[in-house]
Amino acid sequence: MEVSGKTRVCAIIGDPVEHSLSPVMHNAAFGFLGLNLVYVAFTVTAKELQTAVLGAKSLGIRGLNVTMPHKNAIINHLDKLDKTAEAIGAVNTVLIEDGKLTGYNTDGVGAITALHENGVKTEETKIVLLGAGGSAQAIAYHAAQEADELVILNRTTKNAQLLVDELRKSFDSKIKAGALSVDVLKKELKDADILVNATSVGMHPNVDQSPVPKDLLHPDLCVMDIIYNPLETKLAKDAKSVGAKVVSGLDMLVYQGAVSFEIWTNCPPPVDVMKKAALTKLKEQGVHV
Ligand SMILES: NC(=O)c1ccc[n+]([C@@H]2O[C@H](COP(=O)([O-])OP(=O)(O)OC[C@H]3O[C@@H](n4cnc5c(N)ncnc54)[C@H](OP(=O)(O)O)[C@@H]3O)[C@@H](O)[C@H]2O)c1
Repeated sequence: MEVSGKTRVCAIIGDPVEHSLSPVMHNAAFGFLGLNLVYVAFTVTAKELQTAVLGAKSLGIRGLNVTMPHKNAIINHLDKLDKTAEAIGAVNTVLIEDGKLTGYNTDGVGAITALHENGVKTEETKIVLLGAGGSAQAIAYHAAQEADELVILNRTTKNAQLLVDELRKSFDSKIKAGALSVDVLKKELKDADILVNATSVGMHPNVDQSPVPKDLLHPDLCVMDIIYNPLETKLAKDAKSVGAKVVSGLDMLVYQGAVSFEIWTNCPPPVDVMKKAALTKLKEQGVHV
């Protein structure tokens, strides 16, 4: 695509952002559909967030992805929040239209879509979610709508309990919190349908770690590890070896990006093109396979 006087800009803002896969993923999609848009990455420190957002508006930027450490703080600088972002309390996507900034959160829907696209049913299930950080909060909001039973286990049990208290205000499903311990995992995984790892345990360079002992995994479980470096974590390898279905963190990354793409362009996202571009870039960056 030739950059012209009519080219509009989308960008990711965060600190750090140099290794983000979003620029290659979105530029591949814009190019594939012949859209007159480019996507760039801007390093924005916490101190500069407000001026960066004002600048984006003045420059007619079409859309933003927002990553750490701004996912919560950006809310103070937006005109509107969609229902999901408001409930989660964090924003990863901003649409700038007619001078108004609207915040969305596509992380949780990205995770649930990754499961669905891999043929995994999420309704009327028992989901065990590990973690209570930013990603877990977004995934929990959607999982609570889908599952009959949601169990959130975290190293710091208090953080899981806070998340559960918040979810219970909105959802009827059975939701409970617990410690990320072998005993609790043993009890909760026995009859679980889906296990989602949203902790950073197993992420590069700690590729030999897993949050779950292998002997607690079983073939009736679907395991999604949202970590995408390495592409296949120890947890995912263990799950495969016991015959469990495995969904990769790369799929979540691609689907959260696909939802952002649709918000900015109103076009159906070319998901395969986005996934191929992200995978190529990850391999270039020396991701651990
Ligand atoms: N696939 C995707 O699209 C996608 C998107 C976003 C993030 N991610 C990945 O998801 C992971 C979590 O990201 P995040 O943004 O949610 O991070 P975060 O907000 O910092 O949360 C980290 C979570 O991991 C837990 N944790 C950290 N170290 C641990 C340890 N040694 N043992 C047990 N639990 C531990 C924390 O528990 P405490 O509460 O006890 O600290 C917390 O629940 C990262 O690996 C990130 O790369 C993937």
